[in-house]
Amino acid sequence: MMTSKEIRKQFLNFFKSKDHTIVPSAPAVPQDDPTLMFTNAGMNQFKDVFLGHGSRKYTRAADTQKCIRVSGKHNDLEEVGRDGYHHTFFEMLGNWSFGDYYKKEAMTWAWELLTQVFKLDKERLYITVYKTDDQAMELWKGISGFGEDRILRFDEKDNFWEMGEVGPCGPCSEIHYDRTPDKSGAKLVNADHEDVIEIWNLVFIQHNRKQDGSLEDLPAKHIDTGMGFERLTSIIQNTKTNYDTDIFLPILNKVAQLSGVPYQQGPEGTPHRVIADHIRMITFSIADGALPSNVGRGYVVRRVLRRAARFGRMIGLDDAFLYKLLETLCELYGETFPELPGQLDFIRQVIKSEESSFKKNLDRGILLFDEFAKDLKKGGIISGVDAFKLYDTYGFPVDMTNQMAEERGFTIDMKAYQTELEAAKERSRETVGTVTADWVILKESDNAPFLGYDHTETEVEIARYRPTGEEDEEQRDIYQVMLTQTPFYAESGGQVGDCGTINAESFTLRVLDTQKIDGQNVSLAVIISGEISGGEAQAQVDSTKRDRTKKNHSATHLMHQALKDVLGDHVQQKGSMVSPELYRFDFSHFEGMTAEQIRLVETKVNEKIQANYQLVTEVLPIEEAKAKGAQALFGEKYGDKVRVVSMGDYSMELCGGTHVKATGDIGLFKILSEGSISAGIRRIEGVTGMGAFNYINQQEDLVKDISAALKCPAEETPERVSSLQEKYKALVKEKDQLRDKLLTYNADEMIQSAETYSNEIYNNIKIICKLIEGTSAEALKNLAHCLRPKMGSAVVVLATEAKGKANVVVAVSDDLVDRGIKSGAIINPVARIVGGGGGGHPRLAQAGGKDPSKLAEAIQAAPGIVKEQLG
Ligand code: SER
Repeated sequence: MMTSKEIRKQFLNFFKSKDHTIVPSAPAVPQDDPTLMFTNAGMNQFKDVFLGHGSRKYTRAADTQKCIRVSGKHNDLEEVGRDGYHHTFFEMLGNWSFGDYYKKEAMTWAWELLTQVFKLDKERLYITVYKTDDQAMELWKGISGFGEDRILRFDEKDNFWEMGEVGPCGPCSEIHYDRTPDKSGAKLVNADHEDVIEIWNLVFIQHNRKQDGSLEDLPAKHIDTGMGFERLTSIIQNTKTNYDTDIFLPILNKVAQLSGVPYQQGPEGTPHRVIADHIRMITFSIADGALPSNVGRGYVVRRVLRRAARFGRMIGLDDAFLYKLLETLCELYGETFPELPGQLDFIRQVIKSEESSFKKNLDRGILLFDEFAKDLKKGGIISGVDAFKLYDTYGFPVDMTNQMAEERGFTIDMKAYQTELEAAKERSRETVGTVTADWVILKESDNAPFLGYDHTETEVEIARYRPTGEEDEEQRDIYQVMLTQTPFYAESGGQVGDCGTINAESFTLRVLDTQKIDGQNVSLAVIISGEISGGEAQAQVDSTKRDRTKKNHSATHLMHQALKDVLGDHVQQKGSMVSPELYRFDFSHFEGMTAEQIRLVETKVNEKIQANYQLVTEVLPIEEAKAKGAQALFGEKYGDKVRVVSMGDYSMELCGGTHVKATGDIGLFKILSEGSISAGIRRIEGVTGMGAFNYINQQEDLVKDISAALKCPAEETPERVSSLQEKYKALVKEKDQLRDKLLTYNADEMIQSAETYSNEIYNNIKIICKLIEGTSAEALKNLAHCLRPKMGSAVVVLATEAKGKANVVVAVSDDLVDRGIKSGAIINPVARIVGGGGGGHPRLAQAGGKDPSKLAEAIQAAPGIVKEQLG
């Protein structure tokens, strides 16, 4: 049997022999395309070439591409586990021509590979073409020898392939495989039937679907093919479903081993299959930078992981287990996708922690679900409020709840669920000011142009203003002011709003801040003198603050790239704030950065500052910007036209903020802190320019103070400190020894002042009971040893508090021991008072207790206890 690894290799070798360049798979998470959640086809990475914006060194390429289809236009999530040939994650084998060969070669090679290399039975193959594509029909007849009974025409739904709502597209031609025993599947082509499945799609890319829905012709014609690797393997290995191939069996077996529930092909095996499918999606997503979170892609990963966890629970996998499948995945994929073994520990950590934290909620949520469902009959409806509660309180993705409902023959009132969801969103939405009433209108104007990229001082007129009802520190009324045009940057993209002044003949305003309100640029200002009126005025941005903000902002762009360089491509910006004082940057990464990594990032950024790249800003159509490779923030809404900020060939980001003219202007870059703000998200704060200079000066002063205090040059301070520490330790030790020694000098005094006791049996027995402050258990014992030879007939009870605990020692002279008096019998009742117990030799016993506050009481009681023993 040909193994899946051999099949993959044969495919690539075949196209290599046809002069194709074998390229690596693009990440499953697109780095630069916010319109696309996950890579959904092999051609994604060549989109720019098809659109004519980009080029490659080659005109023919082939690869195996990691694809994820759980969202957007191509979404197979619901099918997974129910059938044997849809997956959340799969590999797409593909070959491409960029304006090079076209239909004829693509078809000829596809046919040759399937029928001659892989030796598929021709009688089991069907071909489909787009309904009007006569050219494809004729070519296929020649290549395959088939007639129109096996080359079938279909319309747009099946034979016109589009990447998404927008983007490259074209008519296509597919090859389907018939698994019916008697080769009777002609009617089942494109009928979503397990017995006849599509294996290879050849797309003749020639159009671009535009935002308005219209098609435009591309400058050249291209070939884009994609074949399902798992399906092909299943056919070659002659298995019933994809899950029975050597791609899935090792994972299914591992699931069986972990759960103790053997894998079965029927419905009983659904949990195993879903888990085996989902773990691939989860793992490759995380490896390529999509960490579980509450928004966007991150939420898709979280949802899929939670589904997998729930299916695990159905076969008794109650504790976190998904991470235990990673070794198996590594064995299957390590060679083809080295990003997996390379990040194994990281991925394992992310999955384990995500799964463990969901675990508690899963149990409680299932109980709650049972509660909701308990009175429902078959066909019953779970209310939107209940479904929302499961989502809101226990993190149950609604599709998971839906599936749980379906398993029992219920449905969810999805409309009511959506209403609940919207209402919750509305509640949490921040109330921001709206531009509506109360305005004093001086001049009609809408959407004042922002001139602040090039100017910090401009002629303006006040268009309208109104009081906010708030006051500044000096109790001046604060007004919202809108200008006809403005140099003031309104807070957005993490950059704080500008402040400054507005001067006219009859008034002066101080601008405290500038905000975007309902999409309009609104400055918040107080009147310094005069009264606000219409007519010419001069607006001036506080350029010192703006300058510092710019430096911090540009520095975060450099740092974003530097973090990717140092930590890996999973680093994604998750938030930022830049002000005159500092920059703050949040990003995805799972563990604390080491001191070396922080230093490396600082070094890289400072190198790029030294390189003094000119900043280039361009306004481009979004498609073009993305095709150029500009970094976009996922989840951020961008308009049709975007501003692209580039620094040399190092950094290119979509950004509306204000920046330095050249990176050298940043001056200096320092990181002050790095820490975690939530699971998987880190925060860096730091300073640039004079801020960094001041920081370094402070550090230098600190070192000077330290070296003055230590009386040695700065470079000797670490050594000096550690030698002082050593000395200090030695001194403390010596002090303790002396203290203990001193104690023994008290022995004579203690014997002299001891109480003597006599009764019918004993004569003149000394009873020495003493609480000693500030010593150790060890010293107490030494003191007792020291007393014994000198004390004659005597019993000693000593106590002290050391390290927060009570310590007691009892010693009995040899003659009394010989007459049957035992230390142990005395120490036990004493130790009980301080909440402890102990024992030892009849001559000397030692005890500890957890309640040192009772020591005085214990010592007071000791003579009585001794006397009791003496009879
Ligand atoms: N882009 C086409 C598909 O995804 C062929 O690769 O089916």
